[in-house]
Amino acid sequence: MRQTDHMRADPSELLELAVEVAQAAGSLLLDKRPAQLGVADTKSSPTDVVTEMDRASESLITSALRAARPDDAVLGEEGTVQTGRTGVRWLVDPIDGTVNYLYDIPAWSVSIAAEQDGAVVAGVVHVPRLGETFTATRGGGARRDGDLIRVNPPVGLEQALVATGFGYDSARRAGQAEVIRGLLPTVRDIRRVGSCAIDLCWVACGRVDAYFERGPQPWDLAAGTLIATEAGATVAGLHGRPASTELTIAAPSGLFEQLHDLLAAAGADRD
Ligand code: IPD
Ligand code: CA
Repeated sequence: MRQTDHMRADPSELLELAVEVAQAAGSLLLDKRPAQLGVADTKSSPTDVVTEMDRASESLITSALRAARPDDAVLGEEGTVQTGRTGVRWLVDPIDGTVNYLYDIPAWSVSIAAEQDGAVVAGVVHVPRLGETFTATRGGGARRDGDLIRVNPPVGLEQALVATGFGYDSARRAGQAEVIRGLLPTVRDIRRVGSCAIDLCWVACGRVDAYFERGPQPWDLAAGTLIATEAGATVAGLHGRPASTELTIAAPSGLFEQLHDLLAAAGADRD
């Protein structure tokens, strides 16, 4: 059988599994967080931390996905790379917002997306400390706890509440500071929530008007991008490029173009 001859999975069934697994990971992260949680390791820089709970969450998620669908591929932030033969690949962020989790700030999430033949078709962002679960299937709309959500109507940039985030690398942050220097005087305000997946869901439900960031990886972006898109946001990079690690912008059409042009002029896709 050729690689593309497999049966396509039902996105609703993939989502049901993703929600069940994300909520189980959320319970683990709430119930088993040690009072004195320490840093287990660092990754790209000394501030890019991993806790024992990131690893425990990824282990729970990948074991549960493997038990339910043993032939799927899995890519996880903390190192899981499993190949598959069904055309389905899971993108797993076991804690998005690890620094918030470390400091016990409630804005952290579990993000799980399912790709079918390279396109994200289902995604969940579960926010345990806020008791909220954001979901979407491609073409099926975006929901919070089962209720459909929509982006805000577009506003002018000067009225926009814009979420963003910063990388862990100090040189990249210097460039990001320059972008913020140009943006901050022109918008209502900015928010640095600390979880890219939550930022995208907050665009989706109208808690912020827009989001942009350079640096997030596929496991940070996948589920939230589908949720924001299904809620009516345009989610893309600069000059028609797809949203990616290079730059992701999410906003309703009308606001997207204004933010896009400002970020393009500022070189927000470069370090
Ligand atoms: C980070 C968060 C943060 C974003 C960083 C990400 P992590 O993910 O999403 O909001 O600004 O770019 O790396 O490290 O907490 O999983
Ligand atoms: Ca992450």
